[in-house]
Amino acid sequence: MSFKPANWPRKLRSAEWFGGTSRDHIYHRSWMKNQGLPDDLFDGRPVIGICNTWSQLTPCNAHLRDLAERVKHGIYEAGGFPLEFPVFSTGESTLRPTAMMFRNLASMDVEEALRGTPLDGVVLLVGCDKTTPSLLMGAASVDLPSIVVTGGPMLNGWFQGERVGSGTHLWKFSEAVKAGEMTQEEFLEAEAAMSRSPGSCNTMGTASTMASMAEALGMALSGNAAIPAVDSRRRVMAHLSGRRIVQMVKDDLKPSDILTRQAFENAIRTNGAIGGSTNAVIHLLAIAGRVGVDLSLEDWDRFGRDVPTVVNLMPSGKYLMEEFFYAGGLPVVIKRLGEAGMLNKDAITVAGETVWDQVKNARNWNEDVILPVEKALTQQGGIAVLKGNLAPHGAVLKPSAASPHLLQHRGRAVVFEDIDDYKARIEDDALDIDETCIMVLKNCGPKGYPGMSEVGNMGLPPKVLKKGITDMVRISDARMSGTAYGTVVLHTSPEAAAGGPLAVVRTGDMIELDVPNRKLHLEISEEDLARRLDEWTPSHHVPDSGYARLFHDHVQGADTGADFDFLKGCRGSAVPKDSH
Ligand code: FES
Repeated sequence: MSFKPANWPRKLRSAEWFGGTSRDHIYHRSWMKNQGLPDDLFDGRPVIGICNTWSQLTPCNAHLRDLAERVKHGIYEAGGFPLEFPVFSTGESTLRPTAMMFRNLASMDVEEALRGTPLDGVVLLVGCDKTTPSLLMGAASVDLPSIVVTGGPMLNGWFQGERVGSGTHLWKFSEAVKAGEMTQEEFLEAEAAMSRSPGSCNTMGTASTMASMAEALGMALSGNAAIPAVDSRRRVMAHLSGRRIVQMVKDDLKPSDILTRQAFENAIRTNGAIGGSTNAVIHLLAIAGRVGVDLSLEDWDRFGRDVPTVVNLMPSGKYLMEEFFYAGGLPVVIKRLGEAGMLNKDAITVAGETVWDQVKNARNWNEDVILPVEKALTQQGGIAVLKGNLAPHGAVLKPSAASPHLLQHRGRAVVFEDIDDYKARIEDDALDIDETCIMVLKNCGPKGYPGMSEVGNMGLPPKVLKKGITDMVRISDARMSGTAYGTVVLHTSPEAAAGGPLAVVRTGDMIELDVPNRKLHLEISEEDLARRLDEWTPSHHVPDSGYARLFHDHVQGADTGADFDFLKGCRGSAVPKDSH
């Protein structure tokens, strides 16, 4: 496809607020001028929003005010008029019950803030996990020219001479303490070593994955994803993105021009190549739903299946985002996909050029960080989508983070009815469990938790860990942190709280996991399964009121992106009714 820029100059959307001499135009301009803004800023130039998820309660985004200033420089230079505004910031490490419960709420905030104000285009300043999809979803539903700038990852963590990855080592150290291999004092000392600079998680967790997805989709300038938060080139990226959005408005280059089916296929393949987070599955399905692209869970398997994971980053590999940047970053990976015939090269990006034009000259500066295909971490790196009587609508597993010997496994189920049941019993030495068992966790899906928390990689029982075992098959309707690892079946759909077959698994049932054949099977007869489902009654807590109730009543399954039923689709930028 090719993009045809619109004619310029033309009357912009912002002129409805600022471009005239009526009482209302004066009203809109006059109040804005209390900020000390000169007259000529209202002369019909593009008005650009800087949609900022800065918050001290989202530590990964706490440096975004500085970046916003850099964006403003770029906007002014290019002849635009920048206006920064805050939106709900969903901080992964602090927000309870889980940041995911507020992704859709934040997307509504973004959507209405964009539509209701005199903006012609917007820069989306994001970083921490859910901030990226929530802003992309909101912007996609309005379809004004939009560009993503991420805050960038933290510098490498170091502890006792070793690289320490955000999240990944939190899980590792926690298990090591339980196994008696690390003292509690050492664990406490590692706390500060893990997070030693501004920025988002430095592993290929959900934040880095979603930054990579934004770039692979064409919604960020090439090279954006990996630049560390504190590197001066991150500021340059913000500055250039500010310049670029002004031209995007002049060209009328919108998300609907960029977020095409081809772009989503590119992103799915990129996710396989980087060993990205399973959370990307849910977020991309939700974003696609906002622009009306028919993307399915099966597409993740179809397009990702044969993509080797070549980015050697934790949690699947060894290095961290800082080293990925020095090695050349995401453009090298996308170029590799193009050379392998796995890229829709003509997909348009925010640069107004094709994705191939953006990456064709990229070079790999470290072949131990971005591996040659023959040394890939796994040859089939995409997200495996499993189906069977235990997951009629699908479940996902990340092969690059799993143990190869467990990818085909049959085991006795040990069932936890919910996360509290798990916490109450997992450390009990009397629990009848060993490493051949399959741990099953229910009621942690979108409705069950609510919000679908990242507890799918539930820790192993201490008595198993003490044998030196580090992985077991785990199945749930929960999500897993992108920084986590293990042979973990996630997003089992329909979820237990919605009456999916997961709800009726009993301790002692045999389960077969067969990842090469994409199968997840509960070994009971069809009749038994039907009878159990007939007898099932919900046991999860249903919130009485408030946003939690809205969430419970309207959230859709993980297999379609866990968006609200009433938010699907693009509603455009026209304001339904003028209030003045
Ligand atoms: Fe914010 Fe990981 S907790 S990016």
